[in-house]
Amino acid sequence: MTARKGIILAGGSGTRLYPITMGVSKQLLPVYDKPMIYYPLSVLMLAGIREIAIITTPDDQDQFRRLLKDGAQWGLEFTFIVQPAPEGLAQAYLLAEDFLDGAPSAMVLGDNLFFGHGLPDLLQAAGRQDTGGTVFGYRVADPERYGVVDFAEDGTVRRIIEKPTNPPSSYAVTGLYFLDGTASERARMVQKSDRGELEIVSLLESYLKDGTLSVQQMGRGYAWLDTGTHSSLLDAGNFVRTLSERQGQQIGSPDEVAYVQGWIDDAKLLDRAKLFGKNAYGSYLRWLVD
Ligand code: TTP
Repeated sequence: MTARKGIILAGGSGTRLYPITMGVSKQLLPVYDKPMIYYPLSVLMLAGIREIAIITTPDDQDQFRRLLKDGAQWGLEFTFIVQPAPEGLAQAYLLAEDFLDGAPSAMVLGDNLFFGHGLPDLLQAAGRQDTGGTVFGYRVADPERYGVVDFAEDGTVRRIIEKPTNPPSSYAVTGLYFLDGTASERARMVQKSDRGELEIVSLLESYLKDGTLSVQQMGRGYAWLDTGTHSSLLDAGNFVRTLSERQGQQIGSPDEVAYVQGWIDDAKLLDRAKLFGKNAYGSYLRWLVD
């Protein structure tokens, strides 16, 4: 089986965060002590993925390159791809078609944060499915903001509806999609929606029709946060601060995940720690080696 590749979708216009995002990409903003993109990046790494495409706006690519380099510091390989205009989540599979080259993939939205005991197992299980797609349903209080799962009486998924006025359930589809090697081919069949976007739900629909879409529940023991509004951004920062200070452990550190996965050794982690001097992040990396 071809190794699964990753995509982080970090373009978009971030209009809900204006004026902040008039000068900087949303996915570079801090979520407490780290740039936002570290969190979704760590999720792909926990899934065991090492070849990752980072999709950004044309203007922001340089800043992402400066922050993330080529990935070698974490035992990864990054490919930077530009999305000329924010024309929808499914467009990522067209832009990344050459990069994917028919490989199965996991795409995560650059403004999504996942946390929970057992997350690596959940991700790795989804990663083992080499045909069809897996997405995660998460119970939220405000489903109308998301793609929502419409369940049939027998519990199977009938449809996924983007931002419904009357949500058929409280289960939103999170911004993490495991799709097989046919995703780009299927994305080519997707037509633009009324709002002018290639919708991810239309791409998922194609898997649903074939009976190959699995919707896994991400239970209440997990946190799924998105950071697209001023208050959700602050909430995410407070969440990370509360947990990491209480537990003395980092959330969303690509350095830690790379080390635990065995992709970088003690020496490389200590090299990274040097960059952070005496700050808490640097001390944490040194503590991991000790
Ligand atoms: P959204 O939050 O739906 O859109 P946005 O980031 O442009 O923000 P706003 O609604 O405030 O204008 O996007 C979800 C994620 O997907 C976010 O990380 C940006 C990314 N994205 C792209 O990279 N390209 C796109 O075409 C779209 C629609 C989103």
